[in-house]
Amino acid sequence: MMVCEFKPGLEGIPAAESSISNVDGQNGILEYRGIRIEDLASQSTFLETAYLLIWGELPKKEELAEFEHEVLYHRRIKYRIRDMMKCFPESGHPMDALQASAAALGLFYSRRDLHNPIYIRDAVVRLLATIPTMVAAFQLMRKGNDPVRPRDDLDYAANFLYMLSEEEPDPLAARIIDVCLILHAEHTMNASTFSARVTASTLTDPYAVVASAVGTLGGTLHGGANEEVIQMLEDIGSMENVRPYVENCLATKAKIMGFGHRVYKVKDPRATILQNLAEQLFAKFGHDKYYDIAQELELIVEEKLGHKGIYPNVDFYSGLVYKKLGIPTDLFTPVFAIARVAGWLAHWKEQLAENRIFRPTQVYNGRQHLPYTPIDQR
Ligand SMILES: CC(C)(COP(=O)(O)OP(=O)(O)OC[C@H]1O[C@@H](n2cnc3c(N)ncnc32)[C@H](O)[C@@H]1OP(=O)(O)O)[C@@H](O)C(=O)NCCC(=O)NCCS
Repeated sequence: MMVCEFKPGLEGIPAAESSISNVDGQNGILEYRGIRIEDLASQSTFLETAYLLIWGELPKKEELAEFEHEVLYHRRIKYRIRDMMKCFPESGHPMDALQASAAALGLFYSRRDLHNPIYIRDAVVRLLATIPTMVAAFQLMRKGNDPVRPRDDLDYAANFLYMLSEEEPDPLAARIIDVCLILHAEHTMNASTFSARVTASTLTDPYAVVASAVGTLGGTLHGGANEEVIQMLEDIGSMENVRPYVENCLATKAKIMGFGHRVYKVKDPRATILQNLAEQLFAKFGHDKYYDIAQELELIVEEKLGHKGIYPNVDFYSGLVYKKLGIPTDLFTPVFAIARVAGWLAHWKEQLAENRIFRPTQVYNGRQHLPYTPIDQR
């Protein structure tokens, strides 16, 4: 057997062959199924992009209409799931609530017919349709309110905003959320996607696949950086403090949140799109001083760290956008999860098509051949 060098975090080791998305980190290019993220953000919708990711092609007009219709009519969650969610502690993190609720779907749809395209499509529709309802339901329930029913006259993103706030969604706000979902829908072999593929490779059900990926996304090293960006901007507090803050970070070797990326060595294309969305939001709903601080921070970090390829990543402007849209900070990662369900399902389907169960090896560095010591002699 070939002995390979151990790489912590499997850095640089391909875990799959995939045709879903591609990143060119030197040139700041992200493509889903070969289509640039900028084109999708400006011309597509989240559901169309999800279809592209999962089935590999942009849908024709009738295909998209049918898919949208199916998702629209599966947005309600079973009352037993709502009742289960009502028992969750209010202080629990919404990602934990989402993980438990996604896993619970598997109890209701326990048939596993993984070779049947109709089963695959039904699971895709059900997960895309119900995950936003679950996120919004937990948000209302933890405030002591009943969740609201999805509204059939609203599209995917507008309905999500409505279910969160119980208010008529603003069309620009809804479009901006939809674009945010497009931007977060997929990003090659990251930790949660790997988790999804490992779970998928055991031929378990898709609800377990998504639940395991949600659990993985919940960690601060993966989904949580945009929350920390908001905290950092609030800590900086004023324009005069930006330069001393950066200098202090450099002197103490502290990471500046929302900057740097393992793959991108230029500005993340999603950050550029999000910055543009933030500007549209502030133009319509009022200025945010933290946006000025963020822009100043970007300039100074570029001046100091640009030579190392440290530029804003996707998390730098997304928190500002979500905050302006009234989304509570601890829902930033669940919103990310709503989007990433599309990518996880695309990888689930791709994994099933050429499945081999993941069974890596290890480098054993423990003791060997010890005698068993009876308990009274230890
Ligand atoms: C994303 C991240 C983990 C990538 O890390 P990585 O590829 O392992 O890069 P490294 O941590 O090895 O950093 C390489 C160099 O850039 C510096 N660097 C990287 N990100 C930095 C940041 N955000 N602020 C300041 N310096 C940074 C490192 O200090 C290191 O400098 P050195 O070579 O002088 O030691 C890292 O940039 C980071 O922690 N960023 C902040 C958190 C964040 O925004 N995460 C969301 C990612 S989408």
